[in-house]
Amino acid sequence: MTAERLLTFGAVVFVLFDGNLVCHATESQVGLCLMCDGTVLNGSAVWNFCTSSAGEINGRCCLQKDNTSGAVCITGLDISHCNLSVVEDLSEASTSTMIDLSFNPISNLSDLVFQGFSQLSYVILPSNLTCPGGNASWEKTEVNSEYRLCEGQINACNQTGHMSWDCPQNSLCSPYGPSFFACSCAEDFHGYKCLREGEFPTAKVFGILGGSTVLTSILLWVTQRRKAKAM
Ligand SMILES: *[C@@H]1O[C@H](CO)[C@@H](O)[C@H](O)[C@H]1NC(C)=O
Ligand SMILES: *[C@@H]1O[C@H](CO)[C@@H](O)[C@H](O)[C@H]1NC(C)=O
Ligand SMILES: *[C@@H]1O[C@H](CO)[C@@H](O)[C@H](O)[C@H]1NC(C)=O
Ligand SMILES: *[C@@H]1O[C@H](CO)[C@@H](O)[C@H](O)[C@H]1NC(C)=O
Ligand SMILES: *[C@@H]1O[C@H](CO)[C@@H](O)[C@H](O)[C@H]1NC(C)=O
Ligand SMILES: *[C@@H]1O[C@H](CO)[C@@H](O)[C@H](O)[C@H]1NC(C)=O
Ligand SMILES: *[C@@H]1O[C@H](CO)[C@@H](O)[C@H](O)[C@H]1NC(C)=O
Repeated sequence: MTAERLLTFGAVVFVLFDGNLVCHATESQVGLCLMCDGTVLNGSAVWNFCTSSAGEINGRCCLQKDNTSGAVCITGLDISHCNLSVVEDLSEASTSTMIDLSFNPISNLSDLVFQGFSQLSYVILPSNLTCPGGNASWEKTEVNSEYRLCEGQINACNQTGHMSWDCPQNSLCSPYGPSFFACSCAEDFHGYKCLREGEFPTAKVFGILGGSTVLTSILLWVTQRRKAKAM
């Protein structure tokens, strides 16, 4: 039998959710795209995704310009065949839909690498790695001798068919990458567990983020839900 287990990470993560804006990277921030030689190969999964979504190939990335903000975001990342043994920080690519890490001697891959990757719906890995968050975080998984496919990220807010459970009152649950979900305070609530009501001290937050113009809510904590063996 399996049981739901909640792992709560100690660190408080502050993220601004502003509805539609999903691109945060600017053109000068796409160093990840040049971290390894070559470009996305014609005919590869990321290439096909990119051409079909009207993106632009730049090094190992598929880039897309956000219409309203003008920011450039990474929607696809192909760092296959890069001889990578360690993959730790892919945060520049957190807006990705597709990531290919296949054909690398990666020794371990933490689920935390994909925390916040809420749009990720296609991951290709060396076959000896497991899908981020485990099979339960994906609609479909496949493995052959060369690679593993993890397809269709499951909304962690909805694993039991109920929405938003585990987020406290006055807060909303939203997907925050494979197996992760985030609770953000509903309008007019803020503070620890969204217990305080009233206008949020927005000036401070705007100061930290410097120049963001839309603020609806603030993320208080991020939790990971995974299947665990019942004791
Ligand atoms: C990609 O490959 C296809 C088929 O091999 C070819 O027709 C097409 O011109 C190539 N595209 C680019 C941009 O190289
Ligand atoms: C930008 O917006 C216009 C109009 O809303 C749309 O026609 C165009 O396809 C968009 N461009 C991109 C790259 O999404
Ligand atoms: C791959 O990386 C390892 C170190 O991580 C290095 O020893 C090896 O020479 C590299 N292989 C190639 C083909 O670059
Ligand atoms: C997967 O296999 C590669 C060799 O192909 C090895 O370097 C790596 O450590 C293995 N990773 C795991 C998690 O076993
Ligand atoms: C990867 O595995 C090595 C050795 O097993 C360990 O020292 C290291 O902390 C692991 N890294 C991560 C990110 O889990
Ligand atoms: C996860 O899915 C793969 C491929 O569908 C399968 O081979 C593997 O046994 C599954 N792992 C677990 C722990 O269920
Ligand atoms: C939540 O789960 C139910 C049942 O599994 C499903 O019908 C529904 O579409 C899911 N909703 C979302 C937003 O994923």
